[in-house]
Amino acid sequence: MTSAEPISFSQAFDLINPHLYTVEERIRAQAKAFDPAVEGYVSYVCGAGGKRLRPALALLAGGATGKITANHVDLAVIIELIHIATLVHDDIMDGAELRRDRTSPNAKWGNAITVLLGDVLFAHALKLSTNFTNSDICRRIADAASEVCSGEIIQTQRRFDLKLSTADYYRIIEMKTAALFSAACELGAFISEASPPVIGSLKTFGTKLGVAYQVYDDILDLAGSEEATGKTLGTDLRKGKFTLPVLFLLQSGKDPNTVRELLLREDDVDAELLAQMIGSAGAMDAAKEVAFRLVGEALAQLDPIRENKFARGLRAIAEHLRQLLEAI
Ligand code: IPE
Ligand code: IPE
Ligand code: MG
Ligand code: MG
Repeated sequence: MTSAEPISFSQAFDLINPHLYTVEERIRAQAKAFDPAVEGYVSYVCGAGGKRLRPALALLAGGATGKITANHVDLAVIIELIHIATLVHDDIMDGAELRRDRTSPNAKWGNAITVLLGDVLFAHALKLSTNFTNSDICRRIADAASEVCSGEIIQTQRRFDLKLSTADYYRIIEMKTAALFSAACELGAFISEASPPVIGSLKTFGTKLGVAYQVYDDILDLAGSEEATGKTLGTDLRKGKFTLPVLFLLQSGKDPNTVRELLLREDDVDAELLAQMIGSAGAMDAAKEVAFRLVGEALAQLDPIRENKFARGLRAIAEHLRQLLEAI
């Protein structure tokens, strides 16, 4: 294999498999840090699996710029715990009943317990981050967590807002989703003591990839299957989150009155009809095009990074997203 030969998504994960195994064990072990009355809830959400994309990015970014150390593993655990906390809260807001192929915590225990479960997970992740001797890392992690929550707040404020622009949408998803991708990549490189330009490139790589990933997820919410994703879909339309395909449909000017009326129907929404209109207006393809372009821009950020197998792993993750988009 030549050094420039691309690798697959699963080969990328294989490269960091022993570290990911430790990350997995550590995530599952976190429940023990809580009061026995709380332990069961934490253990349920921390034991539910997930693709572990953000840990993989943190580890690969670390390896692409230096040697993967215990600090990278700590970073991966913390970022995933924050991600889990955001999903716990997100499912309350979306009224989603399925997550990671299981009953969501809100469906299992109700919103009151679940909002506090999300809170203890955030608090715990931030407590773990204080173990880094460099307080800049801890600060950066806290900033990312705050950005995710602020993005979710802005999204909630703008529900059913027909004036939401694509610029507003990109800003929201950059905050709620790309912030963690970006922190994983940036801090992975920072911990490896990469040069500031390299750290900056990885940060931008994470941001672009994260935005592309949320656009993909938003397409799936309209066109994916619950069986394949293991989570409740269709909540974006029901909850008035106007995602890129919907914004492009609005911009297309096709049947504007009908579209507006359909979008404002709340729980009564005719998702099938809207999805069909989105498709025939070319809005789904236009959204995919945006995601493809962002993946390309993410990949270009890796050009200045010295070639090694972990850098190829980062590329493989971005390429995988491209393939997922092609398969929709
Ligand atoms: C789900 O993230 C939330 C989004 C940002 C789209 P993932 O698709 O990474 O979910 P898990 O971690 O694999 O469950
Ligand atoms: C992503 O938004 C949630 C966060 C980034 C917290 P979604 O609401 O689209 O995520 P899923 O589809 O429920 O996983
Ligand atoms: Mg959701
Ligand atoms: Mg979604």
